[in-house]
Amino acid sequence: MGKGNKCGLASSLLCLCFFGFFSAPAKAALKKYQFDIQVKNISRLCHAKPIVTVNGMFPGPTIYAREGDRVLVNVTNHAKYNMSIHWHGLKQYRNGWADGPAYITQCPIKTGKSYTYDFNITGQRGTLWWHAHIFWLRATVYGAIVILPKQGTPFPFPQPYRESNIILGEWWNNDVEALVKQGNQLGLPPNTSDAHTINGKPGPLFACSEKHTFAMEVEQGKTYILRIVNAALNDELFFAIAGHNMTVVEIDAVYTKPFTTQAILIAPGQTTNVLVQATQSPGRYFMAARPFMDAPISVDNRTATAILQYKGIPNSVLPVLPQLPAPNDTAFALSYNAKLKSLNSPLFPANVPSKVDRHLFYTIGLGINSCPTCLNGTRLTASLNNITFVMPQIGLLQAHYFNIKGVFRTDFPDRPPTPFNYTGAPLTANLGTTLGTRASKIAFNSTVELVLQDTNLLAAESHPFHLHGYNFFVVGTGVGNFDPKNDTVKFNLVDPPERNTVGVPTGGWVAIRFRADNPGVWFMHCHLELHTGWGLKTAFVVENGKGRDQSVLPPPKDLPPC
Ligand SMILES: *[C@@H]1O[C@H](CO)[C@@H](O)[C@H](O)[C@H]1NC(C)=O
Ligand SMILES: *[C@@H]1O[C@H](CO)[C@@H](O)[C@H](O)[C@H]1NC(C)=O
Ligand SMILES: *[C@@H]1O[C@H](CO)[C@@H](O)[C@H](O)[C@H]1NC(C)=O
Ligand SMILES: *[C@@H]1O[C@H](CO)[C@@H](O)[C@H](O)[C@H]1NC(C)=O
Ligand SMILES: *[C@@H]1O[C@H](CO)[C@@H](O)[C@H](O)[C@H]1NC(C)=O
Ligand SMILES: *[C@@H]1O[C@H](CO)[C@@H](O)[C@H](O)[C@H]1NC(C)=O
Ligand SMILES: *[C@@H]1O[C@H](CO)[C@@H](O)[C@H](O)[C@H]1NC(C)=O
Ligand SMILES: *[C@@H]1O[C@H](CO)[C@@H](O)[C@H](O)[C@H]1NC(C)=O
Ligand SMILES: *[C@@H]1O[C@H](CO)[C@@H](O)[C@H](O)[C@H]1NC(C)=O
Ligand SMILES: *[C@@H]1O[C@H](CO)[C@@H](O)[C@H](O)[C@H]1NC(C)=O
Ligand SMILES: *[C@@H]1O[C@H](CO)[C@@H](O)[C@H](O)[C@H]1NC(C)=O
Ligand SMILES: *[C@@H]1O[C@H](CO)[C@@H](O)[C@H](O)[C@H]1NC(C)=O
Repeated sequence: MGKGNKCGLASSLLCLCFFGFFSAPAKAALKKYQFDIQVKNISRLCHAKPIVTVNGMFPGPTIYAREGDRVLVNVTNHAKYNMSIHWHGLKQYRNGWADGPAYITQCPIKTGKSYTYDFNITGQRGTLWWHAHIFWLRATVYGAIVILPKQGTPFPFPQPYRESNIILGEWWNNDVEALVKQGNQLGLPPNTSDAHTINGKPGPLFACSEKHTFAMEVEQGKTYILRIVNAALNDELFFAIAGHNMTVVEIDAVYTKPFTTQAILIAPGQTTNVLVQATQSPGRYFMAARPFMDAPISVDNRTATAILQYKGIPNSVLPVLPQLPAPNDTAFALSYNAKLKSLNSPLFPANVPSKVDRHLFYTIGLGINSCPTCLNGTRLTASLNNITFVMPQIGLLQAHYFNIKGVFRTDFPDRPPTPFNYTGAPLTANLGTTLGTRASKIAFNSTVELVLQDTNLLAAESHPFHLHGYNFFVVGTGVGNFDPKNDTVKFNLVDPPERNTVGVPTGGWVAIRFRADNPGVWFMHCHLELHTGWGLKTAFVVENGKGRDQSVLPPPKDLPPC
């Protein structure tokens, strides 16, 4: 495979996938990709701007693989920025070296250098995605990962006719790195984005964007699968298609019990596969994405659009807009998330840990710390259990593997230092947090239950949390303070959704469970880039097991030095 997804490659794969391909015997393949990080002028919203890209493409190339394949991606950095790439949602068993978050599992790939991410795709199939994992560079450096089922294994739903990736994003007219630097200097959030995008294009509701509109052609009577990714930095998004319902069949590369909905909710980091039937009167229909925000926080609330276009319908036909839930529609968000359930079939069971070895309770807090050089003498900050994570100078995984002292501590507290009424009256005092590079040590193959509790410190807000190296089961969620007695008895331990990123509701909590069977150092953070930058992150140090094949693999020879 050459550079990126030339149309020929993508369509030949689709043909293979959808026509008579299931009879061939299963055989793992080696998939090779070359990612050249390069700056390219891209024109959007009436002006051209140099952005960081992969192979000059925006969004970047799609990685196509099949469950069981080995993938090699040689990332060569031709840009002036340090780079690292995260393969979001891939479990990377014993192989944190290929996970990608800068200063957590590797040092960045410097200008002029290369690093080959080498990983196997084991026990996962569906849609995931990749993105830069250093500062805000993922604003333009992202793409889809499509993992087809093993040969001979059909989808657990009717075979769709064709498929399309739908990657939702955010666009800034300015250099995002400069914007963030300025925000950090002032101690304030940088400007919100200038547009939302679908496959890199804002659509005709934005100035100069007629020609920057993604269109997907459909044939009357056929069924399509849309692989939807939320690559936005800071916005949870609603997505809908005018006149067409969607059937949700998979989230974060895990099959779900199918259900039909007029709109989906998707948080940054999440993926959702839906089936769409082209059974309406032939025409042009807008697909649209707009944020969900049920806290008094300003977001870019503008709507990105793309077009679902029936074959043979001319571009002169005006499309209609779908009805999206209101930006503050909390009720829709809660009821949509409650519908997500694992398929839990004999072939795809939900192996939910029923017994818990380690109970963790982390509070999510926003706050202000003192900053003499900032505009107001303060800077906005964020914390878990009152700890604002400080990025180390070398990768935590190297420090762990080579036993380098003084890089991080493993005393991250299992619960907040002082319990309080987390979602009670707003707590707006000058709060202060403890700074530290602190992680939690987890015994190999132990079962962990983590309750993430939003708080009213400064402002309650929905936070999408992402765990690297694992999927987890979302066994419970609620609004208000988590009640260990009454809420626990209501946990779903049968068919909870299994995923890698979960939204903690505004002023609420979410409980997740996972079995810590993947040794290494695994980042866990809010996937709102703004909050990650403010310190809303920590890591799990999962110890090696005693058995063979239960310890972290040796690092690859080309691992970037610090
Ligand atoms: C990119 O576009 C800007 C604005 O049009 C222009 O000033 C600049 O020279 C272009 N850069 C390249 C590398 O083409
Ligand atoms: C990665 O790509 C670079 C640039 O093309 C090349 O110099 C390097 O040899 C490649 N690395 C591997 C392992 O193929
Ligand atoms: C991937 O699988 C192959 C074949 O089983 C194995 O040799 C290799 O070590 C695996 N790589 C990783 C990173 O686990
Ligand atoms: C979509 O679902 C809604 C609610 O279930 C239903 O009222 C509507 O008729 C459906 N629309 C289509 C096009 O199937
Ligand atoms: C979007 O935000 C603007 C400015 O805050 C506001 O005037 C407008 O009503 C909002 N639109 C929606 C759909 O909420
Ligand atoms: C949502 O926003 C609308 C428009 O700003 C407002 O009228 C309505 O009261 C809000 N609903 C809730 C539940 O806050
Ligand atoms: C500065 O702090 C004051 C008091 O907390 C606040 O009202 C004001 O909005 C802040 N200004 C900026 C620019 O953040
Ligand atoms: C927490 O605060 C809420 C809202 O102020 C209040 O209704 C509730 O009684 C408080 N709970 C406790 C245990 O104090
Ligand atoms: C958080 O830590 C700071 C600094 O140690 C301390 O002043 C503050 O009281 C702590 N806040 C909470 C809620 O524990
Ligand atoms: C982890 O523990 C479970 C339950 O005791 C056991 O079935 C499984 O084999 C263990 N896995 C490993 C890799 O040791
Ligand atoms: C928990 O449940 C008990 C028994 O149903 C009930 O009396 C109690 O009020 C509940 N507590 C809370 C905080 O809802
Ligand atoms: C790139 O990363 C290296 C190693 O961490 C660091 O020393 C250097 O300052 C970084 N360069 C830039 C431009 O950020």
